[in-house]
Amino acid sequence: MMSKAQKIEKAPLQWSELPFGYVKTDFNVRYYYENGAWSRGDLVADESITMHMAAPCLHYGQEAFEGLKVFETHDGRIVAFRLDENQKRLQKSCERIFTPIVPPDMFRDAVHRVVRANAKFVPPFGTGASLYVRPLILGMGARIGLGPADEYLFLVMATPVGPYYKGGFKAVKAMVVEEFDRAAPLGVGDCKVGGNYAAGLRGEIYGKKKGYPIVLYLDPKEKRYLDEFSTSNFIGIKGNTYVTPHSESILPSVTNKSLSQLAADMGMTVERRPIDVAELPEFDEVGAVGTAAVITPVNLIHYRDRDYTYGSGDDAGPVITKLYNHLSKIRTGEIEDKFNWLDEVEV
Ligand SMILES: Cc1ncc(COP(=O)(O)O)c(C=O)c1O
Repeated sequence: MMSKAQKIEKAPLQWSELPFGYVKTDFNVRYYYENGAWSRGDLVADESITMHMAAPCLHYGQEAFEGLKVFETHDGRIVAFRLDENQKRLQKSCERIFTPIVPPDMFRDAVHRVVRANAKFVPPFGTGASLYVRPLILGMGARIGLGPADEYLFLVMATPVGPYYKGGFKAVKAMVVEEFDRAAPLGVGDCKVGGNYAAGLRGEIYGKKKGYPIVLYLDPKEKRYLDEFSTSNFIGIKGNTYVTPHSESILPSVTNKSLSQLAADMGMTVERRPIDVAELPEFDEVGAVGTAAVITPVNLIHYRDRDYTYGSGDDAGPVITKLYNHLSKIRTGEIEDKFNWLDEVEV
C-alpha cells in the first residue's frame, strides 16, 4: 500500500542532479516576536523580508540559524533527522546573542509546517537528495545604539538539495590555516551565528586559492590544537579509536554527535579531547563531518611545509565508509532507528 507521502505528486525536478543551492519552494513560515511574545506563525509564499534599515541583525549581526535535513524513507514516511538537537543548539545561540529563545514545541511545529506545506519538494527515496531546512532568527526593528533588538523574526525555509556525492565518495585535500581564525577564544565559535561565517570567508578563500577545497583551523588561543574545518567538524580514526576535538570554539556538530554514538555502538573507543596538531601523522583516516555531506573524506592535510595523507587515495578508508553508510541508511529508514533520531512529519 502506498503511504500518504508517496501519493503526493512530486515537483518536476531532476532530484539527483540538484546542487547544494537554493531552489524555490512554495512556502516559508514566519513567527514575529513583539512585546515579549511570539506570534502563532504564518505560512507565506513571499521569498523576501521587509525590515527597518536600522535592524540590529543588519548592523550588529544579531542573527542565528540552523540547518537540518528531511528525507523520504524507503517505506514512504517523511522524517526530519534529529530536529531536537538543532532546536537545542539554536537555543544556545539565542541565549548567547540575547535573542528570545524558540521553545522546542514552536521549533518542531515550525519545521513540520514548512515541510508539510512543501511536501512535493521532499525528494523521493532512492535519489540521494533531501529537503534542507534552514531556521533563522533575526533581530529586527530600529535601533542605533548597541543592544538587543526589541522585535524578532523567526523564519523557517526549505529547499531541496541533491546528493553530496553523485558518483561515490570524493576525498578532498585540506590545509591548516594559521594566518586567520574563524572564532575567538571566548567568542561565539560554538554558536551558529552569521558573523562566524563572514569571519571564516577569508581563510576559506585563502585555502581555495592555494588549491585546498577546505581549511582546518587551530584553536585560536594557543594555535596548538585542532579546532574544526570551516563548516564541518574534524574526526580522525586511529585503529579502533574515533577521535574528535574537545574545544570551546567549535560548533558542536549534530552529525559528529551521531557518528560518535554509532562508533561507540560498533565497539570503537570514542575520544573527545584536545588534539595536538603534532598528532596529525598518527591518523589512519580523517573526515570532515556535517549535515551537508555526513562525512567528506580528507585524504591529505597540508600543515606548514608537510603533507600528511589518509585513507586510500580518492576513496574513503574502511571505517569512514562504514560510518557514512550506517548514518545515511538510518536517515532513510533502511537501518533501524534504534536511537530514536527520526521525527516523522505527517503530510
Ligand atoms: C562551523 C560548522 N561546524 C560544523 C558543522 C556541522 O554541524 P552539523 O553536523 O550539525 O551540520 C557546521 C554545519 O552546520 C558548521 O557550520
